[in-house]
Amino acid sequence: MARSALLNVMVQAALKAGKSLARDFGEVQNLQVSVKGPGDFVSQADLKAEKLVRDELMKARPTYGFLGEESEEIKGTDGAHRWIVDPLDGTTNFLHGIPQFAVSIALERNDELVAGVIFNPATDELYTAEKGGGAFLNDRRIRVAARKVLSDSVIGCGIPHLGRGAHGKFLVELRHVMGEAAGVRRMGAAALDLAYVAAGRLDGFWEAGLSPWDMAAGLLMIREAGGFVSDMHGGTEMFHTGTVVAGNEYIRKELIEVLGRPVPKN
Ligand code: IPD
Ligand code: CA
Ligand code: CA
Ligand code: CA
Repeated sequence: MARSALLNVMVQAALKAGKSLARDFGEVQNLQVSVKGPGDFVSQADLKAEKLVRDELMKARPTYGFLGEESEEIKGTDGAHRWIVDPLDGTTNFLHGIPQFAVSIALERNDELVAGVIFNPATDELYTAEKGGGAFLNDRRIRVAARKVLSDSVIGCGIPHLGRGAHGKFLVELRHVMGEAAGVRRMGAAALDLAYVAAGRLDGFWEAGLSPWDMAAGLLMIREAGGFVSDMHGGTEMFHTGTVVAGNEYIRKELIEVLGRPVPKN
């Protein structure tokens, strides 16, 4: 698999930030943590990783825009290109010593996702994708799972955290999916959840309340692995609605139908 120069830049940035995260993960109890809001934390590890990624990407392509979770957006003089970065997806896991977290880097060209990298330094799993070139896990081609019905499937999801205020709606959705799927998982890092769908580990996934940096690289990863992604209504407004439903086309469609069912009477 030949990687483009741009994808190589992204991989180098992810590995560099991943190294920093792995070091901090070993001393997590000494990290300074601030609270952004209820249930919403940011640590020195997030900030360090974002600076490493941002410096690396901006050095390689100084005219591109940059949207990262932890720093002010750079508009970029280029106009066509934008990096979308989550330096540490799964901060809550990270701060609890749970090795399910990742660096996520995507590149957009004229509002279209064209490259993505997701790296979990705790497991050394590197996911890469380029538009039209397929998706890879540590250089091995990956594909979404082939199961055709929810009753055979394991579905990932995200639970809105404290302060998100969408718990009632989530519980209704969960109840519907639990009633149909073979199993449901909540692993705590949306970028990795999407990468797991791409790798066929999860058959499908849904979450609301996400930001572009949580999902950008993962959306491309799934498409390049032969899967499908949409917003909760089956449209393409994932960034604007913050909602994602993903899987192969059978599972994504069945999930949309099940998630849209009315509130049960009892
Ligand atoms: C969070 C994780 C989590 C999802 C949250 C995100 P962060 O990202 O992806 O799985 O449920 O909605 O905010 O804050 O750890 O980068
Ligand atoms: Ca966060
Ligand atoms: Ca995130
Ligand atoms: Ca983050």
